[in-house]
Amino acid sequence: MGVKITETVLRDAHQSLIATRMPTDLMLPILDKMDKVGYHSIECWGGATFDACLRFLKEDPWERLRKLRAGLKNTKTQMLFRGQNILGYNHYADDVVEYFVQKSIANGIDILRIFDCLNDLRNMKTAVDACKKEGGHAQIALSYTLGDAYTLDYWKETAKKIEEMGADSICIKDMAGLLVPYEAEKLVKALKEGSSLPIQLHTHYTSGVASMTYMKAVEAGCDIIDCAMSPLALGTSQPATEVMVESFRGTEYDTGYDQNLLAEIADYFRPYREEVLANGLLNPKVLGVNIKTLMYQVPGGMLSNLVSQLKEAHAEDKYEAVLEEVPRVRKDFGEPPLVTPSSQIVGTQAVLNVLQGERYKMVTKESKKILSGEFGQTIKPFNKEVQKKCIGDVEPITCRPADLIEPQLPKFREECKEWIQQEEDVLSYALFPQVATDFFKYRQAQQEKVDVAAADTVNNAYPV
Ligand code: CO
Repeated sequence: MGVKITETVLRDAHQSLIATRMPTDLMLPILDKMDKVGYHSIECWGGATFDACLRFLKEDPWERLRKLRAGLKNTKTQMLFRGQNILGYNHYADDVVEYFVQKSIANGIDILRIFDCLNDLRNMKTAVDACKKEGGHAQIALSYTLGDAYTLDYWKETAKKIEEMGADSICIKDMAGLLVPYEAEKLVKALKEGSSLPIQLHTHYTSGVASMTYMKAVEAGCDIIDCAMSPLALGTSQPATEVMVESFRGTEYDTGYDQNLLAEIADYFRPYREEVLANGLLNPKVLGVNIKTLMYQVPGGMLSNLVSQLKEAHAEDKYEAVLEEVPRVRKDFGEPPLVTPSSQIVGTQAVLNVLQGERYKMVTKESKKILSGEFGQTIKPFNKEVQKKCIGDVEPITCRPADLIEPQLPKFREECKEWIQQEEDVLSYALFPQVATDFFKYRQAQQEKVDVAAADTVNNAYPV
């Protein structure tokens, strides 16, 4: 059995390169060919796609999922799921998480990749249990990061706990492209020692090492790698599918995929690449190698966020100072991985610390939440002095944060009842109340237009 590939062109590739703007209509005509490749899975939903559908594309994400499912009859569909945050940025009550998982699977998802920005397994447990209950494949993704607490023993022990939790597979989620080839080899071996579950590797080409990292990981026993069709690969996206397939051809890792079929799929996406390059959606900057991501250990998306925050404050000269402040804030906050939403929280606080000229003079609501334990357990303790300065005498929580959240579904259902056309609308509203309401209004207006047009047709057919 060769190495398996998860194709990301319908989710992470366009999320990472063109701000998640690929519309459903562009995906549908190529599904039939993609379905014939023999991929391990096609990642096509979740992450930022849900928000982007409602907010920017004016599409119903659930409708997209049903259409993708209908077109992918033989291939497993996969989504990215932020643990207790679902696809949003806050913790939700268990009833919302369970219902979201149930509806995701009912509408066509086979594999849920579940992660938490602190790697706190308690924040993933409800989603894993719900997924198993609905007959789905529950994968836990560990956000990869560096720091003295993140030893091979830590990863190995965590892998063991994941298997005990009842998950079906483990993914190393290297969102920043920090995992270099020889470290990947050691990491995969450690995870394999800790558990007997299949190991998948997800990385980004940001720092330019990704395909070498895949090769060393696969040689060390990694079972599945995440790749994107070449027109939307490399840069801040994944290594190219065709390149990895060709690299392993004729070896014990041979995927067996048909390169001619892959070429036809690439041909389909290539004009789209030209189109987004021409209209500016795809910035050539994100296609290059950014070695700073290795130097500062900051994800590429976070770097561009910091630049725009500083630009707004007319303080671009503080860029280096902020980059040096990021690891200090991260340490004060218990050294979490930097991934949504911890990356935004640490980044914004670092900017404030530098601009104010005094550390923690101004503290964001989210920083207080982290230091109050409301996102969960960090790998290291918080800096006590910083914690005291930010939250005063507030007693931090140590339980699983969602244990303190009452069931929320009845309230959400009541709030959006005038707009509900399908059960899933309640979940869209629960995650993004304002954005979903705007979408519901838009949808209704479109339907009324269609009704008027239909009435006109009838009137014209029978002139009075
Ligand atoms: Co990714």
